[in-house]
Amino acid sequence: MSSSPDPITIRLCTQADAPAFRELRLEALRSHPEAFSADYAIHEQHPPAFWSERLRQNINSVQQAIFFAVADGALIGMSGVRRGESPKTRHGALIWGVYVRPGWRGHRLSERLLDVCVNWARDHEVRLVKLAVVTTNIAAIRSYARSGFTVYGVEPQAIKLGERSYDELLMVKHLASESQKAS
Ligand SMILES: CC(C)(COP(=O)(O)OP(=O)(O)OC[C@H]1O[C@@H](n2cnc3c(N)ncnc32)[C@H](O)[C@@H]1OP(=O)(O)O)[C@@H](O)C(=O)NCCC(=O)NCCS
Repeated sequence: MSSSPDPITIRLCTQADAPAFRELRLEALRSHPEAFSADYAIHEQHPPAFWSERLRQNINSVQQAIFFAVADGALIGMSGVRRGESPKTRHGALIWGVYVRPGWRGHRLSERLLDVCVNWARDHEVRLVKLAVVTTNIAAIRSYARSGFTVYGVEPQAIKLGERSYDELLMVKHLASESQKAS
């Protein structure tokens, strides 16, 4: 018996994604303001060129990448990975912007979006990947733990929304082997 094909593709961004990227990212920032440090009101003002340029910087780059989950040609999720710029920080990368549209949640899509970022980092000889998640975001924390991320600290009041502040869990996944870490 043949299984049905996976309707979801995870792929790198292209320049043609700019309008859909804008829509997806603004939806994320508007719906979950406590989950992201980027601000909806500021991003909503950015012209189309901002979104095109953002993607351009992430295409064929050894510095950063953006991945999209795609179903029936529509963007249904995203993740980004960016490594340090200095020769002293290039061994580390940060995952940002993880988002899955509400109708697609609960299918472990975030794990696939994390995996492609981690694989990208590994391919670029990054040794450890970090991310930050507000302590109240249980769905995300559980997903990241399943992907092998562990907590190494807490950033107090990382996000402030009106009078309410949110601490962030700092999580890491080590990619280097024990022998590399020792060198
Ligand atoms: C966090 C997020 C990326 C997880 O994506 P996902 O692909 O749904 O992840 P999973 O399928 O692994 O589900 C994670 C948890 O979500 C919960 N979940 C399941 N279905 C859900 C649904 N329809 N709606 C909301 N949460 C759901 C489950 O509790 C699951 O946890 P558990 O199986 O360990 O109990 C997604 O919920 C999201 O985009 N949230 C809003 C933005 C955000 O918080 N991003 C992270 C910033 S650090």
